[in-house]
Amino acid sequence: MDFTANNLRPLKGMGRKLFVETYGCQMNVGDTEIVVSVMQKEGYFYTENIEEADVILINTCSIRDNAEQRIWGRLGDIKHYRIQNPKLVVGIIGCMAERLKEELLKGPLAVDIVAGPDSYRSLPELIHRAEMKQKGVNVELSLTETYSEIEPVRIDHNGVSAFVSIMRGCNNFCSYCVVPYTRGRERSRDAETIVAEARSLFENGYREVTLLGQNVNSYRCGEVTFPELMRRVAEVSPLLRVRFATSHPKDMSDDLLEVMASMPNICHAIHLPAQSGSTAMLDRMNRRYTREWYLGRIAAIRRIIPDCSITTDLIAGFSGETEEEHLETLSLMREVKYDYAFMFKYSERPGTFAQRNLPDNIPDEVKTRRLQEIIALQNELGLQSNEKDVGKEFEILVEGESRRDKNQLSGRTSQNKVVVIDKGNHRKGDYVKVRITGCTQATLFGEEID
Ligand code: SAH
Ligand code: SF4
Ligand code: F3S
Repeated sequence: MDFTANNLRPLKGMGRKLFVETYGCQMNVGDTEIVVSVMQKEGYFYTENIEEADVILINTCSIRDNAEQRIWGRLGDIKHYRIQNPKLVVGIIGCMAERLKEELLKGPLAVDIVAGPDSYRSLPELIHRAEMKQKGVNVELSLTETYSEIEPVRIDHNGVSAFVSIMRGCNNFCSYCVVPYTRGRERSRDAETIVAEARSLFENGYREVTLLGQNVNSYRCGEVTFPELMRRVAEVSPLLRVRFATSHPKDMSDDLLEVMASMPNICHAIHLPAQSGSTAMLDRMNRRYTREWYLGRIAAIRRIIPDCSITTDLIAGFSGETEEEHLETLSLMREVKYDYAFMFKYSERPGTFAQRNLPDNIPDEVKTRRLQEIIALQNELGLQSNEKDVGKEFEILVEGESRRDKNQLSGRTSQNKVVVIDKGNHRKGDYVKVRITGCTQATLFGEEID
């Protein structure tokens, strides 16, 4: 391999090996693919084997305290690779890098470089400096960086579905949330490059793209709004499924629902985080919608896309949560009948509005009990939702072998539910029409129909 062939300048990587570990949300998964792309252009090779790495990067999450604790634990493990290989460069990138900055360069678990989510183009330079025994830090947030033209290197892929980042940052400042501080202001990526990336994925055999942002409904690039972007991506091919995450209830428009209903390859699945069922609580959370508004959006989804699945995020035990407010969350869940939910115990985050102004005053036992009640109810609702599908017909996109049984395949419905079928002559990337024959709380079982 000639490391200087492209541009006649020495590449910093010189064939050294890069290992990246990713925590947190889908945005981080997408960012890791950008990081690998940036690093490969500088002559680094990506490896899946941490033992042989010359550079280890950990792409981190700060959303809850336990997410950060896991990463501190991981840095403890990595100490031993440093002893084996004194030249090893270890870097923290992502949200925790942004939040803790120089703090990560100190103490017994010190790392060599710290790079926030908007500084990945400078990684080769930071690593180069670290190799010269200078610590490298870049945690500057940008108003414009979208890594628009960088073609992500798909590493953790099944070759069927891929994430495509369409915007970065968040302007919503929900009072409990650290994301606006770790990812900076909202900015949209150029629409042309998004459509081009989707087209290139399709041409390379991918059959599903998920458009990613913290609040995709506020996407805007010139005249192109989110519904229009969805339409353009869906037009790449009728065989390319299109999904998106996440939409904020306050911006969930009928226009988007109409586009979803009008194009068969846009999946009928909406993730609409409610956080709480109480209007007073939503106000303290600075969510900028009421319970009634939220239920109005659910009614619009049911009216315009009757077979749409609806999933959510819920937080138990935020500041001042009364028992009545908690019961309102449970009643909202029953009313919406969520297909699936991500459920969390409130974790106070330094620097947020809530940490400065709203006491974290719900005892941990109460938070835990409320979360358990939310989980128990969702388990029931999830099972009911699956039971309702038994006997119905769906088209699934096959993603690969079932984890439990190599003679079976697993795929997803448009509603994003996992269906397991017998292998037959199918392979991943195929569309198969199935009838649902049975279910558990987590999985549907189906048989092929013609
Ligand atoms: N932008 C997305 C969510 C990103 S974070 C949205 O607004 O929908 C994913 C989820 O983590 C949030 O929806 C929320 O439920 C949860 N979360 C965020 N901050 C939290 C905190 N401090 N404690 C507990 N859960 C939190
Ligand atoms: Fe956080 Fe709210 Fe932005 Fe979601 S919308 S990332 S919860 S501030
Ligand atoms: Fe975590 Fe940052 Fe995503 S805090 S949830 S990795 S945006």
